[in-house]
Amino acid sequence: MTAASKVGIIGVGAMGRMLIDAHYAFDPAETFEVQAATRNADVLAELEHRYPALALKDAPDLVDDCRMVFVCVPPLPYLDVVGALAPHLAADKILVCISNGVALDDVGALVAAPVVKVIPSVAHKIGRGVSLVTPGPRAGEAHLQEVETFLRPFALPVRVTSKDMRIAANLTGCGPAILAHFMQTLVQVSAERADALDAAALGCMVRETFSATARLIEEGLSPEEIVDEAATGGGMTEMAIETLAPPIRAGVGAMIEATQAREDALKAQAKGAPDAA
Ligand SMILES: NC(=O)c1ccc[n+]([C@@H]2O[C@H](COP(=O)([O-])OP(=O)(O)OC[C@H]3O[C@@H](n4cnc5c(N)ncnc54)[C@H](OP(=O)(O)O)[C@@H]3O)[C@@H](O)[C@H]2O)c1
Repeated sequence: MTAASKVGIIGVGAMGRMLIDAHYAFDPAETFEVQAATRNADVLAELEHRYPALALKDAPDLVDDCRMVFVCVPPLPYLDVVGALAPHLAADKILVCISNGVALDDVGALVAAPVVKVIPSVAHKIGRGVSLVTPGPRAGEAHLQEVETFLRPFALPVRVTSKDMRIAANLTGCGPAILAHFMQTLVQVSAERADALDAAALGCMVRETFSATARLIEEGLSPEEIVDEAATGGGMTEMAIETLAPPIRAGVGAMIEATQAREDALKAQAKGAPDAA
């Protein structure tokens, strides 16, 4: 195993854990050796038991040993965590930032290592979903490719510019939650008006319908074709789409503006956090 194939995960919360699980579930060739650093004794014991091959280390030792380091901590302590590890994040490493709540230039200013941003998706749990990839300070094509090679067994890496990151992350990182929320809304509002059907029964219908729609798309039908085929002239589906289209359009626009505002606020907060290096 060469140093170039070692990947470190710092912070084993939802995203750190998902990357570890996805690696072991979908990269049976184990092209990469994964290491993790957690401050949580229970998580450490559970990981030790579940993944005997996973090397568990203190964060500085992990960085010293790994070529690529994913820092998977919340936006507020992000710069503090990276700053504390800065002496170890030398120019021959790759620092992978997985947060849109911290500015890449602020992360890059703390370390000598090239920085790559990756915004993963909870869908990687099942070996699917888009990981957005964008270069940060000092990152070149070879660094991006190395990171994408680690992701590819369980994710579809897609390159985006920093300017398009927010727009794209709403569809990929936030996407599963947004679509799931729409399903919940369909069920809740319908249940309030139904006669004998309760939320559980309506939930089964909506789940099967969403899965079937995803399958139709995988079989080659475009969303436009599905709408055209189902929403025949003068019918109820056409009326449903006509009624939903304006508020959904307005809602998506408002969502883009609100998420951008939240991202800007988080970045400012992370930079101004008292402990931030
Ligand atoms: N959740 C998503 O869908 C999603 C999607 C894309 C990107 N992200 C980004 O991924 C990052 C992690 O999100 P998450 O959902 O995994 O959060 P999370 O579940 O809260 O986990 C964050 C982990 O960071 C570590 N941590 C927390 N505070 C720390 C501190 N002060 N110093 C050092 N380590 C600390 C902890 O790990 P240990 O206890 O193991 O040390 C904690 O479990 C965030 O920056 C977020 O913006 C999240």
